[in-house]
Order: sequence, then C-alpha cells, then structure tokens
Amino acid sequence: MAGMFETAQRLITASRRSDVAPFIVMDVMAAAARLEKQGRRIVHMEVGQPAAAAPSTAIAAARAALETARIAYTEALGIGSLRARIARHYGETYGIELDPARVVVTTGSSAGFLLAFLALFEPGDRVAIARPGYPPYRNILTALGCEPVLLEISAETRWSVTLDQLLAAHARAPLRGVLIASPANPTGTMLTARAVADLVTAAEAEGIPVISDEIYHGLDYAFPAETAARVSDRAVVINSFSKYFCMTGWRVGWMVVPPELVRPIERLQQNLAISVPTLSQIAAEAAFDARAELEAIKHGYEENRRILSEGLPKAGLDKFLPVDGAFYLYADISRFSNDSLAFANAMLEEAGVAATPGIDFDPVHGKHFLRFCYAGATDEIREAVRRIGKWLNR
Ligand SMILES: Cc1ncc(COP(=O)(O)O)c(C=O)c1O
Repeated sequence: MAGMFETAQRLITASRRSDVAPFIVMDVMAAAARLEKQGRRIVHMEVGQPAAAAPSTAIAAARAALETARIAYTEALGIGSLRARIARHYGETYGIELDPARVVVTTGSSAGFLLAFLALFEPGDRVAIARPGYPPYRNILTALGCEPVLLEISAETRWSVTLDQLLAAHARAPLRGVLIASPANPTGTMLTARAVADLVTAAEAEGIPVISDEIYHGLDYAFPAETAARVSDRAVVINSFSKYFCMTGWRVGWMVVPPELVRPIERLQQNLAISVPTLSQIAAEAAFDARAELEAIKHGYEENRRILSEGLPKAGLDKFLPVDGAFYLYADISRFSNDSLAFANAMLEEAGVAATPGIDFDPVHGKHFLRFCYAGATDEIREAVRRIGKWLNR
C-alpha cells in the first residue's frame, strides 16, 4: 500500500508550465476579508471589477430564457444573433462595417487570449507586451511555452509602447506577435487613434501579428478609444462583457479575428470548451439594450475619477499616471515607500483601504506603485480619499 502511495506521489508532479506567478491582488482580497470578519469596514479598491450588477435587460433575458429555453450547447463560435449584434456594435460605436462571420464569442476575454495565442503562436515564439501590464498576458504565454518580451513603458512615452521599442525588440530577435491594450490595466492610460494606427500598420509591415485587448472600451474619458479593427482586418481584437457591461461573473466576451483564423479558432473552441455558457450569451445580447443604464454607471466612474484625481494629491499622493480610461489610477508611492506590498498591507491594516501593489503588474518597478480601482460607489471613493489623507498625514 505504502509503495503504491509513493508511486502515486511521484506520478503527480505539477508540470513546469503550470508554475506561473500567483495573482497578488487575491492575497490582498483575502487579507481584507480577514479584517472584515473582525468587524472592520474596508474600502475596496483592489479588485478590477464594477460594483454594479449586470444590466437589467441582461438579467431579464436570462430569467426569461430559464423559463422558456432549453439551455443546451450552442455553436462553438457563439449564438448567431449575438455574433450579429456584436458586429452591429462596431457600426454603432466606431462606424465600421464588420462581417459577423469574423466574430467569435468566448468565455470572457480570458479565453480569448488562450484561443488567440494558440491560433497564432508556436512554443518558443517571442511575443511583445508592455510592462507594467495585466499579469495573465505573460502568464498564459509562459504556460503555452511562448516567450513574453516585456517592453518597459514610462512617462517619457506617455506610458505606451512605442514603435521604436517594438522595432528594436524585433531587431534583437524576431517577434511573432505584439499585444497592445488601450485603455490599459493597471496604468489606465490610452493610445491615441494615431498611435494605434501606427503600431498596427508598422507591426504588420514587419510580419508581426497584432492582438489588441479592448476590454476597457466604453470606459474612455480623455478621448475616444480606437479599435484595431478599423486599422486592419488582420488584427485580432479581444473584448468582453465584463467591464463596460458589468458582467464579470457571467464569463462572456468576444473576439474579432482575421478570416483565416475563424476556422482554426472554431476547431480549438470545439475541443477546449464546446461552447460558451448559453445563458450568459443570451444575457450578453440583451446587455446591448441597456445603453442608458450603462452610460449612467460610466458617469459614476467619471465622478470617482474626478474625486481621486483632485483628492489624492491633497492627501499626499501627488504623482500618478494620466487617468485616461478603464477604472484604474496607478499611483507612484516612492515618496513614502519602495515596497508597495508592505505599503498596501499597512494602508489596509491602518487606514482600511485595499489597493493592489504594483508588483503584480511590473516585477521591476512595481515596488514603487499602487493601483487603485475606482469602479466602486462614489461615497466609498470619497471615504477612501479621506482615510488615505488622514493616514499619510498622521
Ligand atoms: C486588461 C484586462 N484584460 C482582460 C481581462 C479579463 O477579463 P474577462 O476574462 O473577465 O473578460 C481583465 C480583467 O481584469 C483585464 O484587466
């Protein structure tokens, strides 16, 4: 028996590819939950998700479907009427015509990355992404055996990857892909329409396919966000119902893919997932009918953004990146600390405000930064500014 157990233990060794970095924000959430259990009231600015529930139209459509529809598998690429509705969204939002045949419904944008990376890259391929950036980009690439090439962004380039950086990395060793994001997480900064056009055009001219993470589109305050789909039919666009549409837990998103990738992605999705949760697809289609409700939520974020941008400098945090879009403010805390994890823990413990240390997003300079998510209720954001001010000036 003992021998069998030892054999079984040797049998089960986690693969090297599964050895990806944990998401530190989850640890902050757990610490906040522990304090709440002790009766403390915590202001949550750590998790990147809307406080609002799914739009009423989405919930009503899901309710009706539960009563009347058989919740069965759908086509692997998604329900036809949802794909058509998403294509129409590109006409309404960006004024571009999009063939619904190029739209793929996914299990959140997270599954979109997996499908895009599998469809485009071989193990060993070099793929450029910005640092700081959303951690799963590099972790999914690593798990697939690809090599994330981190391009450092800074104030000098207004916190965006530049053409020169991209071409320099390509000259060092060929890149097989580049991922751009605007508005971006954790920076909250955006690429201008011109920058998107220049990056996509130049990358494609060099034979580098572009993936554009547009999950925060709709949440643009500084200027309208540009889609890579306008620039090129070859760009892979990834989007989601999680953020603007307030449907994180429904796990539904979409991709716009080049015609050549539709069938390969269909085959991958058939095998990896069969299809995306049907109830979520039905709800997502109805979410497009909640424009007024969603715009009101966006106006709430705009107010939160104003309160933070004006209040944090008075509280003592006067250095942060341009707050263009999404619902993040990335603050430089180097005046106070060079250990953002310790700073975040102390702020949580002593001020009762939870935020995410920059090391989640940037292994090099993240120790100097903290990400605040302002997708919560406006009163909570006011309270956070008050608490941070009191704490830093104690
Ligand atoms: C930049 C970015 N991309 C993608 C995602 C994944 O979202 P989902 O899988 O819910 O669509 C997130 C979530 O926080 C994000 O911040």
